[in-house]
Amino acid sequence: MPFLLNGKPQEVHPGERLIDAINRSGIGIPQVCYHPQLGAIQTCDTCMVEADGKLVRACATMTAEGLRVETGSSRAQAAQREAFDHLLGNHLLYCTVCDNNNGNCTIHNTTRLLALEHQDTPFRTKPYEVDSTNPFYRYDPQQCILCGRCVEACQNLQVNETLSIHWEDPHPRVLWDGGAPIGESSCVSCGHCVTVCPCNALMEKSMLGQAGYFTALPNQALTGMIDIVKGVEPEIGYGSILRLSEAEATMRESQIKRTKTVCTYCGVGCSFEIWTRDRHILKVEPTDGPANGVSTCIKGKFGWDYVNSSDRLTRPLIREGQKFREATWDEALSLVARRFSEIKAAHGPDALAFISSSKCTNEESYLMQKLARAVIGTNNMDNCSRYCQAPATIGLFRTVGYGGDSGSISDIEQASLVVIVGSNTAESHPVLATRVKRSHKLRGQKLIVSDLREHEMARRADVFLHPRPGTDLIWLSAVARYIFDNGLARRAFIDRWVGNEDEYRKSLEPFTLEMASERCGLSQETIVKVATMIAEADSVCILWAMGVTQHVMGSDTSTAISNLLLATGNYMRPGTGAYPLRGHNNVQGASDHGAMPNYLPGYQKVDDPAIRARFEKAWKVTLPAKPGLDNHLMIDAIHDGRLKSMYVFGEEMSLVDSNAGYVAAALEKLDFFVMQEIFFSETCRFADVILPASPSLEKEGTFTSTERRIQRLYQVMEPLGDSRPDWRILVDLANRLGAEWTYKHPSEIYEEIASLTPLMAGVTYERLENFKSLQWPVAPDGSDQPLLYTEQFKTPDGRAQFFPLAWTEPTNQPDKEYDLHLNNGRLLEHFHEGNLTYRTEGIREKVPCTFVEVSPELASARGIETGTWVRLSSRFGDVKAQALITDRVTGNELYMPMNSSLEPVNALTSSCTDKVTHTPAYKETSVRLTVLDQKGESPLPRSNQRFGHPTPQRGVEVERKWARSDYHPPGNGLVQIKAPLAAPAGQER
Ligand code: SF4
Ligand code: SF4
Ligand code: SF4
Ligand code: FES
Repeated sequence: MPFLLNGKPQEVHPGERLIDAINRSGIGIPQVCYHPQLGAIQTCDTCMVEADGKLVRACATMTAEGLRVETGSSRAQAAQREAFDHLLGNHLLYCTVCDNNNGNCTIHNTTRLLALEHQDTPFRTKPYEVDSTNPFYRYDPQQCILCGRCVEACQNLQVNETLSIHWEDPHPRVLWDGGAPIGESSCVSCGHCVTVCPCNALMEKSMLGQAGYFTALPNQALTGMIDIVKGVEPEIGYGSILRLSEAEATMRESQIKRTKTVCTYCGVGCSFEIWTRDRHILKVEPTDGPANGVSTCIKGKFGWDYVNSSDRLTRPLIREGQKFREATWDEALSLVARRFSEIKAAHGPDALAFISSSKCTNEESYLMQKLARAVIGTNNMDNCSRYCQAPATIGLFRTVGYGGDSGSISDIEQASLVVIVGSNTAESHPVLATRVKRSHKLRGQKLIVSDLREHEMARRADVFLHPRPGTDLIWLSAVARYIFDNGLARRAFIDRWVGNEDEYRKSLEPFTLEMASERCGLSQETIVKVATMIAEADSVCILWAMGVTQHVMGSDTSTAISNLLLATGNYMRPGTGAYPLRGHNNVQGASDHGAMPNYLPGYQKVDDPAIRARFEKAWKVTLPAKPGLDNHLMIDAIHDGRLKSMYVFGEEMSLVDSNAGYVAAALEKLDFFVMQEIFFSETCRFADVILPASPSLEKEGTFTSTERRIQRLYQVMEPLGDSRPDWRILVDLANRLGAEWTYKHPSEIYEEIASLTPLMAGVTYERLENFKSLQWPVAPDGSDQPLLYTEQFKTPDGRAQFFPLAWTEPTNQPDKEYDLHLNNGRLLEHFHEGNLTYRTEGIREKVPCTFVEVSPELASARGIETGTWVRLSSRFGDVKAQALITDRVTGNELYMPMNSSLEPVNALTSSCTDKVTHTPAYKETSVRLTVLDQKGESPLPRSNQRFGHPTPQRGVEVERKWARSDYHPPGNGLVQIKAPLAAPAGQER
């Protein structure tokens, strides 16, 4: 039976809120605090309707069969108006001169919807100043209507738990850490609160004075204009004032451009609109990104200043001795083409090598590998997944078949247990981490974390394991053995879907609880507890990253994870699976599109004659049959004199490859080195020619995120100066080398990719329009697979395979001389070495330099304080940095983030690699620490969020507002639906 909405029958969608059903029907009702991604907050009371004759909040009421709903009855309307009038007591309507007058202000639009001419509740100022202490946004308490959207977003979506409203205060306002200045609070500048604020109380600083025709006026003039507007309001009413502001908002449309793009930092794949006025970035506005909804982190929301940085490369550069001189494109490209041809003629095509960028688009990686293979004739082609994710891919190839996450972020969100191994998810994949934090906080999801550091996810975990460095494979295998030995394995799943059990179980024999406990330094009880939790959970997702892969056993440990998931039947269902978290925005796509030495696009083997024949026919060339060098072998080949020339784009190879000194020495030896970059990076120092490229905002194309999600990015602005999109440069160069490439737009490149790559057969630009996306594999009819393995595994017989494993000792273990273990990784604020993020002043202000985390016990033993300078020396090099004393690390384990070009942590790391993939064992590094006679301030300023004190609570806690003596529900006879304090995500509260 339907329900009746203003007398008309409407379909009941189970679990649908009344407000969503009303919105779906197109009937407009006020709804100031409601946001579909936040749920019902119930603070504004403006959504009052009559349901079966009772006055209720539409946001807090569910549809039900037979329900009779009236949205426009006089009782409902009076209540709506009364509630909104109360809100206006907290907000001065000066729309025409407001930065937020862009057509989407909820307060403005509600005033218009209710045809409000005058307000009964007078505006009351509050005894607070504007807080501008965060570098990216400001809070104006005078304009804050106390809707609590920001609090809900911070507490329960971002789950940073910084914001609250002190409802008992005579003048409630939003508080950071219970009352600290924003700039000294735990705020991580993710921007959620600013994005969801329905008015101008929270605004991006980049918007202030920039968006409107009158908003740049000096304060005094602005105040004067506001006074004039308020002065005439009693006479002319809001209707006329709003018409004026709407005219101004319409005028803004001609100068504000809103362009959809995809974040260029990590692999989560957040998408959003970028608002620009000429080249000025007004703001990043996430709305309904398929991966992120309204979520972002500090980098995606505020880290874009690099695009307009004055030190962008804008002209080609050619080396002359120790200097570079500017050149024309014609001269630079001719030189590159000539030298590549000469080197190929003299030494053969395998004397050249190519490295594609995980920051650039799929189309650009495709062209780079096509240039290497079809134009030069070599498979010496790689990308930076070699530095991080290649072992995870091998682990999945060995067991289940596809080298990608087996589900989506939504699967991680709905799992009953999430296990995180070797991933600082809250800092490296911030938005993905919010989904785990949210489910853990609100839905009872369980969390197990294994890591050397007690980072945020570890602190939140139900069980935190701190195994000895390099021993994850042991405890994972011991857990698997315990599960088999105690009859906890999912027998029916294994019998139907998994092969090679006997051999695998035999390989598990050494992994007893005793052995694992001794080797890993974990108690047997802990291992049993973890095993029991995994075995008993309804659905398990395991997430891992570089703490697993950057070891000599990276591939084997990744395999152990997949084995464990198979043993417990945690594949082939929603809420289950393997999630190797991809680091760069397009590291998944670079590999998917053939930037690898052994695979053509779509993981089609270069040594398979039938596959090669298909590409040869399409490209009209003969292709090299032997797999080429990966980027680790390339460095050895330069030292050996076999490799003479390299072409690298968008990759800071000299800093991010391990054993940086050895890499730099190799790059110096090259006969001819071409770099394509947006800045003069450290690696550019070794180049002979530097080609100026365009970042993502200046071009079109597609990126593929960690969940195999392919998304389009649109051009936001023209390339700066003479810089060019990488794909254009590649086309020009290929044609100078004799190719006849005719691509005029990246969509044409993708047509070719789809025609040659079964994995992407159905990908078209039309199917990716705006915020649409596809998760590979994509069938020719365009159907995609958010959850892999619904019908079978990607193996010849459709069954998964257990893969037997053994353990070997990690390399570079601490000894007498190098007595400390050094771990390294990312920071929330900076991306890798910081080439992009240091160019955002606010980020630099929050994290100005690198540092070494030292445990309190080591600090006390060595007389180190926060700010003390220390030298770290390994068997491979030295760096100098200031110490930061923190209990995130313990004992003799140090941690150094990778955010420095001057003192790069990779000066200390070795050339040892994972046996299978040659991924460097970055995480197996031992150092000696020398305390220097030099002390400074803390390397992290007081304004860094790590010094803040969050105030966790269960959301906005509206009951405390309702308990105020001055709170009166609007209308007569409101039926109060008490909000449960814990709100299941996406469910009724
Ligand atoms: S962490 Fe900061 S920016 Fe993010 S929602 Fe909370 S207060 Fe806002
Ligand atoms: S600052 Fe927060 S409480 Fe105030 S209006 Fe904005 S979202 Fe609502
Ligand atoms: S989580 Fe990753 S993709 Fe999302 S905004 Fe942050 S850096 Fe960008
Ligand atoms: S929209 Fe605010 S109470 Fe329903």
